[in-house]
Amino acid sequence: MKTSFHDLPLLAAPGQVFTPRQSTERLVDEALGRIDGVPMRIADVGTGSGAIAIAIAVKRPNVEVWATDTSQAAVDLARENTRLHGVEDRVHVLQGDLLEPIPHPVDLIVANLPYLPEEAHDPRYDEDPPEAVYAPGDGLGPYRSLLDACRDGKLETGGTLLIQFHRDPLAADCWQLEDLREQLEAAAYTR
Ligand SMILES: C[S@@+](CC[C@H](N)C(=O)[O-])C[C@H]1O[C@@H](n2cnc3c(N)ncnc32)[C@H](O)[C@@H]1O
Repeated sequence: MKTSFHDLPLLAAPGQVFTPRQSTERLVDEALGRIDGVPMRIADVGTGSGAIAIAIAVKRPNVEVWATDTSQAAVDLARENTRLHGVEDRVHVLQGDLLEPIPHPVDLIVANLPYLPEEAHDPRYDEDPPEAVYAPGDGLGPYRSLLDACRDGKLETGGTLLIQFHRDPLAADCWQLEDLREQLEAAAYTR
């Protein structure tokens, strides 16, 4: 099956890999606005079909992207999509947790990770793998862990974290990570 993201055709695998949504194009736009002419290293964490990583790499030829996902099906599909767009030499798709597989610090981290609590069933995601959409407890565990990983040195000094949360992009420069954490905690789901 095929889908379209940021004006690019992409292979999709409903039921196995999260199908990229139009709302995530705003996250890509935010990322593109932060990439100027200088070469940059970028991470796309929880890449799914590779949509974010590939859209950035196609539109900014001076960047190198590391795209990670825990799901083998997502890694396989993302690699296929990098070949479809001829960016497999600049988009490295790696299986693993968050930033762990990435060999060195990056300048920009972009992530659309699961953030919905398991008990908050949303029928719009019934065709997507549950582990791509829902996380235990209040759902914020993956983003809390990503914030910890940024603090542990995988984000360059002067780098930026960009995440999608309830379909909105949220940005934090490296000195604003604790502000972003507070913003997420304030929005945490409580029963
Ligand atoms: C909501 S989907 C987003 C996929 C893609 N970024 C997009 O916007 O279309 C979340 C993705 O994060 C992956 N994921 C979940 N936990 C992860 C983790 N700890 N490390 C890396 N990837 C993870 C899931 O397998 C899934 O592919």
